[in-house]
Amino acid sequence: LGQRGRLFPSFTSMPVRRIPQTIIVGVRKGGTRALLEMLNIHPDIVVAKSEVHFFNLDENYQKGFDWYCAQMPLSQPHQLTIEKTPGYFASLKAPERIHSMNSSIKLLLIVRDPAKRVISDYTQVLHNRKERHKPYQPLEEILIHNGQVNTNYKAVQRSLYDVQLSNWLQFFQLNQFHIVDGDRLIVDPLLELRKVETFLGLPPRIEPSNFYFNQTKGFFCLHLRGHEKCLDHSKGRPHPMVNSTVLEQLCAYLEEHNQNFFSMVGRTFKWC
Ligand code: A3P
Repeated sequence: LGQRGRLFPSFTSMPVRRIPQTIIVGVRKGGTRALLEMLNIHPDIVVAKSEVHFFNLDENYQKGFDWYCAQMPLSQPHQLTIEKTPGYFASLKAPERIHSMNSSIKLLLIVRDPAKRVISDYTQVLHNRKERHKPYQPLEEILIHNGQVNTNYKAVQRSLYDVQLSNWLQFFQLNQFHIVDGDRLIVDPLLELRKVETFLGLPPRIEPSNFYFNQTKGFFCLHLRGHEKCLDHSKGRPHPMVNSTVLEQLCAYLEEHNQNFFSMVGRTFKWC
């Protein structure tokens, strides 16, 4: 307080760290990093740069909310804080924990063709194993066991969006979610971001001039505060060719789950 008992203006507008009002909960390999970086263009949004893994990992959750808050960037009162941890969507504990923090929180879920998501997930793990000189198998061998889709394969389980969403809908209303089409975010990022701005109640501040198509990368990159920025090499990796019969088998397996997901969210996507 100042000498006259009033708050100094410089004190009231001092940036502080805040618990997120919005979380990007998944899906892994859906385009979560691209979405976060693109939202970071908005002047009314600040983002936690690293994945926080607070609600899905017991060892982090036990550190408490002060620790969680300390992971957030500084923000002004009018700015929204957003974190992204794709591991939340498949976590059985995250929905209840997030709900007990803020039952009216806004959640962003970015989905992508679940078969492509399996391949992307495999490609990431493959890359990590190659880097560590560990043995690896072709996707077809992991995916198909005794002529059937291997439902124990984590990458397949993570593509069952209906199964995971049903855990969330035990705690949250569907209208607390905004679903971003990850396949559309790749080809027309601005359109998807406009919808997110509306959902978050923010004025449209992300502009066409914030994006340019980078031929070398094969993806949109960002013009951000005078700099050009593409996502790093781990985003937008070339995928291995997958045997077409195996891919058809995977798509056939996913079909019922996709249809379930469409009825749950009241919307369809062009998948498989
Ligand atoms: P691939 O690397 O399989 O192509 P996440 O950040 O959730 O791990 O998602 C990674 C995916 O984001 C990438 O998967 C890529 O397809 C997608 N993506 C969307 N927009 C992108 C962009 N502008 N630059 C790079 N990758 C982007």
